[in-house]
Amino acid sequence: MTNQITLTIDEKEILVPPGTTILKAAQSVGINIPTICYHDYCTANALCRICVVEVEGARTLVPACVAQVSNNMRVRTNSERVIRARRTILEMLASSVDLSDAPDILAMLQEYQVDTNRFPEAEERKPSVIDDNPMYIRDYAKCILCWRCVQVCATDAQYTFAINFSGRGYETQIGTFYDKPIPETTCVFCGQCVGVCPTGALKPKKQWLLEQGLPPAEIVQLTRFNRSANSRCR
Ligand code: SF4
Ligand code: FES
Repeated sequence: MTNQITLTIDEKEILVPPGTTILKAAQSVGINIPTICYHDYCTANALCRICVVEVEGARTLVPACVAQVSNNMRVRTNSERVIRARRTILEMLASSVDLSDAPDILAMLQEYQVDTNRFPEAEERKPSVIDDNPMYIRDYAKCILCWRCVQVCATDAQYTFAINFSGRGYETQIGTFYDKPIPETTCVFCGQCVGVCPTGALKPKKQWLLEQGLPPAEIVQLTRFNRSANSRCR
Protein backbone atom coordinates (compact mmCIF):
# COMPACT_ATOMS: atom_id res chain seq x y z
CA MET A 1 0.00 0.00 0.00
CA THR A 2 1.38 3.43 -0.88
CA ASN A 3 1.29 6.59 1.14
CA GLN A 4 0.98 4.78 4.42
CA ILE A 5 2.88 5.50 7.59
CA THR A 6 4.53 2.66 9.46
CA LEU A 7 5.01 3.01 13.19
CA THR A 8 5.20 0.93 16.32
CA ILE A 9 2.90 1.39 19.30
CA ASP A 10 3.63 -0.74 22.35
CA GLU A 11 5.68 -3.09 20.15
CA LYS A 12 2.82 -3.52 17.65
CA GLU A 13 3.69 -2.54 14.09
CA ILE A 14 0.93 -0.44 12.52
CA LEU A 15 0.18 0.94 9.07
CA VAL A 16 -2.04 4.05 8.98
CA PRO A 17 -2.69 6.94 6.57
CA PRO A 18 -0.66 10.15 6.98
CA GLY A 19 -2.38 12.69 9.23
CA THR A 20 -3.66 10.03 11.64
CA THR A 21 -3.22 10.97 15.29
CA ILE A 22 -1.40 8.63 17.64
CA LEU A 23 -4.71 8.23 19.52
CA LYS A 24 -6.56 7.00 16.41
CA ALA A 25 -3.64 4.82 15.31
CA ALA A 26 -3.60 3.16 18.73
CA GLN A 27 -7.37 2.69 18.71
CA SER A 28 -7.13 1.01 15.28
CA VAL A 29 -5.25 -1.88 16.89
CA GLY A 30 -7.22 -1.98 20.11
CA ILE A 31 -4.81 0.01 22.28
CA ASN A 32 -6.71 2.31 24.59
CA ILE A 33 -5.20 5.68 25.47
CA PRO A 34 -7.23 7.55 28.11
CA THR A 35 -8.77 10.90 27.15
CA ILE A 36 -10.66 13.59 29.06
CA CYS A 37 -10.90 16.81 27.05
CA TYR A 38 -10.93 15.01 23.71
CA HIS A 39 -14.30 14.30 22.05
CA ASP A 40 -14.69 12.62 18.66
CA TYR A 41 -16.89 15.44 17.36
CA CYS A 42 -15.06 18.44 18.82
CA THR A 43 -11.85 20.14 17.74
CA ALA A 44 -8.99 18.70 19.80
CA ASN A 45 -7.05 21.30 21.75
CA ALA A 46 -4.89 19.08 23.95
CA LEU A 47 -5.92 20.86 27.13
CA CYS A 48 -5.97 18.11 29.77
CA ARG A 49 -2.85 16.11 28.76
CA ILE A 50 -4.17 12.84 30.18
CA CYS A 51 -3.51 11.22 26.79
CA VAL A 52 0.25 11.81 26.87
CA VAL A 53 2.49 9.07 25.48
CA GLU A 54 6.23 8.59 25.17
CA VAL A 55 7.69 8.92 21.69
CA GLU A 56 11.22 7.62 21.25
CA GLY A 57 13.62 10.54 20.72
CA ALA A 58 11.16 13.21 21.90
CA ARG A 59 12.26 15.30 24.87
CA THR A 60 8.76 15.69 26.31
CA LEU A 61 5.69 13.49 26.47
CA VAL A 62 3.29 14.19 23.61
CA PRO A 63 -0.52 14.44 23.67
CA ALA A 64 -1.79 11.55 21.56
CA CYS A 65 -5.09 13.27 20.71
CA VAL A 66 -3.36 15.88 18.54
CA ALA A 67 0.12 14.50 17.71
CA GLN A 68 0.23 12.92 14.28
CA VAL A 69 2.06 9.75 13.41
CA SER A 70 5.29 9.81 11.43
CA ASN A 71 7.29 7.11 9.69
CA ASN A 72 9.21 4.75 11.97
CA MET A 73 7.86 6.43 15.10
CA ARG A 74 8.09 4.29 18.22
CA VAL A 75 5.42 5.02 20.80
CA ARG A 76 4.92 3.74 24.33
CA THR A 77 1.50 4.38 25.81
CA ASN A 78 2.03 2.86 29.24
CA SER A 79 5.60 3.49 30.34
CA GLU A 80 6.39 4.40 33.93
CA ARG A 81 6.92 8.04 32.91
CA VAL A 82 3.53 8.14 31.17
CA ILE A 83 1.74 6.58 34.14
CA ARG A 84 3.39 9.03 36.55
CA ALA A 85 2.39 12.01 34.40
CA ARG A 86 -1.23 10.83 34.14
CA ARG A 87 -1.39 10.16 37.86
CA THR A 88 -0.13 13.65 38.67
CA ILE A 89 -2.67 15.26 36.31
CA LEU A 90 -5.44 13.30 38.00
CA GLU A 91 -4.14 14.23 41.46
CA MET A 92 -4.19 17.90 40.52
CA LEU A 93 -7.71 17.58 39.16
CA ALA A 94 -8.92 15.73 42.24
CA SER A 95 -7.46 18.39 44.50
CA SER A 96 -9.24 21.32 42.89
CA VAL A 97 -12.42 20.09 41.18
CA ASP A 98 -15.51 18.24 42.39
CA LEU A 99 -15.32 15.06 40.30
CA SER A 100 -18.28 13.33 41.96
CA ASP A 101 -20.36 13.47 38.74
CA ALA A 102 -17.56 12.43 36.38
CA PRO A 103 -17.65 8.61 36.27
CA ASP A 104 -14.97 8.22 33.60
CA ILE A 105 -12.52 10.32 35.58
CA LEU A 106 -13.44 8.56 38.82
CA ALA A 107 -12.60 5.25 37.11
CA MET A 108 -9.22 6.70 36.10
CA LEU A 109 -8.52 7.68 39.72
CA GLN A 110 -8.81 4.00 40.58
CA GLU A 111 -6.89 2.73 37.58
CA TYR A 112 -3.94 5.07 38.17
CA GLN A 113 -4.00 4.58 41.96
CA VAL A 114 -4.35 8.26 42.54
CA ASP A 115 -3.64 9.81 45.92
CA THR A 116 -6.52 12.30 46.11
CA ASN A 117 -4.78 14.05 49.04
CA ARG A 118 -1.45 14.52 47.34
CA PHE A 119 -1.89 18.31 47.24
CA PRO A 120 -3.59 19.13 50.57
CA GLU A 121 -2.76 22.84 50.24
CA ALA A 122 -4.54 23.12 46.90
CA GLU A 123 -7.47 25.48 46.89
CA GLU A 124 -10.65 23.78 45.73
CA ARG A 125 -12.74 25.77 43.27
CA LYS A 126 -16.16 26.28 44.81
CA PRO A 127 -18.29 28.75 42.84
CA SER A 128 -22.03 28.56 43.53
CA VAL A 129 -24.37 26.73 41.19
CA ILE A 130 -25.80 29.10 38.57
CA ASP A 131 -29.52 28.45 38.14
CA ASP A 132 -30.66 31.16 35.75
CA ASN A 133 -32.83 29.39 33.19
CA PRO A 134 -35.40 26.58 33.01
CA MET A 135 -33.29 24.19 30.93
CA TYR A 136 -29.93 23.60 32.57
CA ILE A 137 -27.82 24.56 35.54
CA ARG A 138 -24.13 25.46 35.57
CA ASP A 139 -22.10 24.05 38.45
CA TYR A 140 -18.59 25.24 37.72
CA ALA A 141 -17.21 23.63 40.88
CA LYS A 142 -17.33 20.52 38.68
CA CYS A 143 -15.81 22.12 35.59
CA ILE A 144 -12.44 20.84 34.39
CA LEU A 145 -12.15 23.52 31.67
CA CYS A 146 -12.13 20.99 28.86
CA TRP A 147 -13.61 23.61 26.53
CA ARG A 148 -15.99 21.17 24.83
CA CYS A 149 -19.07 23.26 25.68
CA VAL A 150 -17.49 26.44 24.33
CA GLN A 151 -16.55 24.69 21.12
CA VAL A 152 -19.95 23.13 20.39
CA CYS A 153 -21.57 26.48 21.13
CA ALA A 154 -19.19 28.03 18.59
CA THR A 155 -17.83 26.68 15.33
CA ASP A 156 -17.82 22.95 16.17
CA ALA A 157 -21.62 22.81 15.94
CA GLN A 158 -24.04 25.56 16.81
CA TYR A 159 -22.42 28.89 15.80
CA THR A 160 -24.25 30.55 18.69
CA PHE A 161 -21.31 31.91 20.69
CA ALA A 162 -23.28 32.23 23.93
CA ILE A 163 -20.49 30.99 26.22
CA ASN A 164 -16.75 31.47 26.43
CA PHE A 165 -13.84 31.54 28.83
CA SER A 166 -13.79 34.31 31.39
CA GLY A 167 -11.03 35.25 33.85
CA ARG A 168 -7.40 34.20 33.80
CA GLY A 169 -5.16 31.70 35.61
CA TYR A 170 -6.80 30.28 38.72
CA GLU A 171 -9.84 32.51 38.06
CA THR A 172 -10.43 31.02 34.61
CA GLN A 173 -13.99 29.84 34.27
CA ILE A 174 -16.54 29.22 31.58
CA GLY A 175 -18.98 32.09 31.46
CA THR A 176 -21.20 34.24 29.31
CA PHE A 177 -20.19 37.53 27.73
CA TYR A 178 -20.46 40.26 30.40
CA ASP A 179 -21.61 37.50 32.80
CA LYS A 180 -25.16 37.87 31.53
CA PRO A 181 -27.74 35.29 32.64
CA ILE A 182 -28.19 32.62 29.96
CA PRO A 183 -31.66 33.87 28.81
CA GLU A 184 -30.06 37.24 28.01
CA THR A 185 -27.39 35.71 25.79
CA THR A 186 -27.60 34.31 22.27
CA CYS A 187 -28.23 30.81 23.74
CA VAL A 188 -30.94 28.91 21.84
CA PHE A 189 -31.13 26.10 24.43
CA CYS A 190 -30.02 23.45 21.94
CA GLY A 191 -28.52 21.42 24.82
CA GLN A 192 -25.35 20.53 22.94
CA CYS A 193 -23.12 21.96 25.66
CA VAL A 194 -24.88 19.81 28.25
CA GLY A 195 -24.51 16.77 25.98
CA VAL A 196 -20.72 17.06 25.68
CA CYS A 197 -19.93 18.04 29.28
CA PRO A 198 -18.02 15.11 30.85
CA THR A 199 -18.33 16.13 34.50
CA GLY A 200 -21.91 17.13 35.28
CA ALA A 201 -20.90 20.79 35.43
CA LEU A 202 -23.66 21.41 32.92
CA LYS A 203 -26.74 19.41 33.77
CA PRO A 204 -30.39 19.32 32.67
CA LYS A 205 -32.33 21.26 35.26
CA LYS A 206 -34.93 18.50 35.60
CA GLN A 207 -32.23 16.02 36.54
CA TRP A 208 -30.68 18.48 38.99
CA LEU A 209 -34.03 19.19 40.69
CA LEU A 210 -34.76 15.46 40.92
CA GLU A 211 -31.41 15.00 42.63
CA GLN A 212 -32.42 17.75 45.10
CA GLY A 213 -35.49 15.63 45.95
CA LEU A 214 -38.16 17.93 44.52
CA PRO A 215 -41.52 16.36 43.61
CA PRO A 216 -42.23 15.98 39.86
CA ALA A 217 -45.14 18.48 39.86
CA GLU A 218 -42.91 21.21 41.26
CA ILE A 219 -40.15 20.31 38.80
CA VAL A 220 -42.60 20.75 35.90
CA GLN A 221 -43.43 24.24 37.17
CA LEU A 222 -39.80 25.20 37.69
CA THR A 223 -38.69 24.05 34.26
CA ARG A 224 -41.39 25.80 32.27
CA PHE A 225 -40.25 28.57 30.00
CA ASN A 226 -41.48 32.03 30.86
CA ARG A 227 -42.27 33.02 27.31
CA SER A 228 -42.41 36.72 27.96
CA ALA A 229 -38.92 36.52 29.50
CA ASN A 230 -37.39 34.73 26.55
CA SER A 231 -39.15 35.14 23.23
CA ARG A 232 -36.54 33.06 21.32
CA CYS A 233 -37.86 29.94 23.02
CA ARG A 234 -41.50 30.17 21.97
S1 SF4 B 1 -18.69 23.12 31.68
FE1 SF4 B 1 -18.34 20.92 31.17
S2 SF4 B 1 -17.97 20.91 28.93
FE2 SF4 B 1 -17.73 23.05 29.64
S3 SF4 B 1 -15.52 23.27 30.00
FE3 SF4 B 1 -16.49 22.71 31.97
S4 SF4 B 1 -16.32 20.48 32.06
FE4 SF4 B 1 -15.95 21.05 29.92
S1 FES C 1 -7.38 14.06 25.77
FE1 FES C 1 -5.57 14.70 24.80
S2 FES C 1 -5.03 16.47 25.87
FE2 FES C 1 -6.98 15.97 26.73
